[in-house]
Amino acid sequence: MPRRLYIETVGCQMNVLDSELVAAGLLERGYELVDDRRRADTILFNTCSVRQHAEDKIYSALGRLKHLKGQRPGTIIGVLGCMAQKERHAILRRAPHVDLIVGPGQLGRLPALLDEVAAGGGPRIEVSLDRTAGDRPAVMASFEPYDPGRTARMRPTPDQAMVRIILGCDRFCSYCVVPGVRGPEQSRPAVNIEAEVRRLAGEGCVEVTLLGQAVNRYCDATTRPETRLPGLLAKLNQIEGIRRLKFVTNHPRYMGRELIGAVRDLEKVSPYFHVPAQSGSDAVLERMNRGYTSAEYREMLAMIRETVRGASVTSDFIVGFCGETEEDFRRTVELVRESRFKNSFIFKYSPRPGTKAAELYADDVPYPVKQRRNNELLAIQNAISLADNRGFVGREVEILVEGPSKVEQKRGPAAYEQAPVQLVGRTVCDRIVVFDGPRELTGRILPVRIERAEATTLFARLA
Ligand code: 5AD
Ligand code: SF4
Repeated sequence: MPRRLYIETVGCQMNVLDSELVAAGLLERGYELVDDRRRADTILFNTCSVRQHAEDKIYSALGRLKHLKGQRPGTIIGVLGCMAQKERHAILRRAPHVDLIVGPGQLGRLPALLDEVAAGGGPRIEVSLDRTAGDRPAVMASFEPYDPGRTARMRPTPDQAMVRIILGCDRFCSYCVVPGVRGPEQSRPAVNIEAEVRRLAGEGCVEVTLLGQAVNRYCDATTRPETRLPGLLAKLNQIEGIRRLKFVTNHPRYMGRELIGAVRDLEKVSPYFHVPAQSGSDAVLERMNRGYTSAEYREMLAMIRETVRGASVTSDFIVGFCGETEEDFRRTVELVRESRFKNSFIFKYSPRPGTKAAELYADDVPYPVKQRRNNELLAIQNAISLADNRGFVGREVEILVEGPSKVEQKRGPAAYEQAPVQLVGRTVCDRIVVFDGPRELTGRILPVRIERAEATTLFARLA
């Protein structure tokens, strides 16, 4: 029975990758992908629980589907990912028309589950064990690795791919829901990762981004000696066809000299470090259970700057965390001012049920204060991003062309016929570059001349 699949994804790159793998698996089984949920008979949401706002959006999307389900009872509605794991019972209570709830550790079983539900076996809930529901090996085993064979046609661009190297997280930052919903940290064997990257290179992929919640904790203990991230990068660096390697997200505490040296020495590894600081205040960092002080963060940053010339560094910050005073916030402002991040993602603290912070500390910074701190920090960061981007004007830089810009994608495929189109590419230090050119340049690495700069985008002409 041919089925028409609509899949919507929110959240981090890990989710984007999961959706890609889910869709690829279903396409192989004869599903067809549609981009309008009204034309679909299988509607999947791949969800995120990192902030309340992300969950609210899914609940309202599910609410809007109630009517459709009433009209077309054969439509299968599924909730996948972190929210499925965390909110499984609440989802069925609030949206009883949902047929299927599948946690991030059970996605491999999705095709079979969809068949069972289609045959009248719904609603179904398939999730992993909670962290306290068994001993560590049992909980680990309940998060099944899901990185099967992939097809080039499901990647947003066939020239780029994400590759998971660590599942789960064991850091337990006090605000973070991830260790609960994505389970214990498990590094994939280096041989499997190498084989996957070779296969991707064989399919024409030129850029690979390695993914992990704390990617620089990577450790494959099945090899002698154990393989850590620098060793893994050295292996992948040798794979023919691969031209760029990146890795996200890093935890500051594990950003060692060896890894920074590997980024300097391995020619394919991009000089780009996403190392979230989260706060510039030691008291706040301590309550966040981040495991470093602001001085240690600064030392790490200095080591990056001294070792890797022209490196770009990006960060995440949470403002309005429990007990954050104006003085604490000033320390964050200071850190942002002096660090010259390429960009920072700034979030207002959102208490997550089941986390240590939600249990131990009051969410005592009023919303308007969170909002003001967010805006202030963003304005400071934007001014820095703009000033640093302006330094690129007049320079020739090498970019990897990712494909037509969002503007072009909205105009639809018909517009592609008329060359040139607006294309988007990225520099080796992860800056976004927009320029006009024929769409056939997609996937190529080529020089462009920067003509104009905004805080988040460089505008260029083909050199
Ligand atoms: N509230 C706000 N932001 C959060 N993040 C993680 N958990 C929360 C939360 N409870 C942010 C962190 C992390 C990014 C992915 O999301 O900054 O680095
Ligand atoms: Fe959350 Fe910390 Fe794990 Fe990152 S390292 S996912 S912030 S617990």
